[in-house]
Amino acid sequence: MKILVTAGPTREIIDPVRFVSNKSSGKMGYAVAESAVEAGFEVILISGPVAITPPDGLAEFIRVETAAEMADAVKNVFPSCDAAIMCAAVADYRPCIKSHSKLKKTDGNIFIEFERTEDILASLGKMKTASQILIGFAAETDNLDDYAISKLERKNLDWICANIVGVEGRGFQADNNAVTLFSRDGRKVEFELDSKKNIAKRIIRTIFDT
Ligand code: PMT
Repeated sequence: MKILVTAGPTREIIDPVRFVSNKSSGKMGYAVAESAVEAGFEVILISGPVAITPPDGLAEFIRVETAAEMADAVKNVFPSCDAAIMCAAVADYRPCIKSHSKLKKTDGNIFIEFERTEDILASLGKMKTASQILIGFAAETDNLDDYAISKLERKNLDWICANIVGVEGRGFQADNNAVTLFSRDGRKVEFELDSKKNIAKRIIRTIFDT
């Protein structure tokens, strides 16, 4: 099986020296990619800018910076894959205007207008064939189950990996995580707090029955 994994944040450019981004370190997505390689899959990892080294044994590693670049790379690769696991924390908004010169500071406030980026996972949900498996992540601060199940249904996913963020010791940047998997056919599987590597192994084992 050929599996696409996305990881890390995206950066949305304001000017040549500034961007907006989020706290994703890539640890969770890289652990998922590594576990998929260890399970014997052919793995393509598409990653936003992170400070960690890609796992050995990848079939392909594609580095991107912005949500638009991630959307292009993912939509290009997905048709040849059997499954996609979308762990990246893709920006939902980007500045409407990207300045080609450094914005000069003034005495007053600055107002930057933001526009929506493409929801890549939703696009894959529309593209996917009957034989492809599409797995999303949901990062929530509250109402984890309800929001995750709503994303699973709205985006036409087969599975969603829901995790709480904004709590010390799990989620963004931490070495550990706790995840609840929901499947399209109504299964719910909970993984208690553990290393991201162990959580990733369990995600792969559960979804692909390895
Ligand atoms: O990288 P770490 O520091 O290890 O942190 C791990 C993590 C918290 C980032 C990871 O476990 C996680 O939750 N990843 C998903 C983060 C996220 O963007 O969640 P969301 O609920 O906002 O998005 C839902 C899904 O839509 C995700 O699969 C996301 O990849 C996808 N998405 C979101 C926005 C967008 N424009 N396009 C998308 O495809």
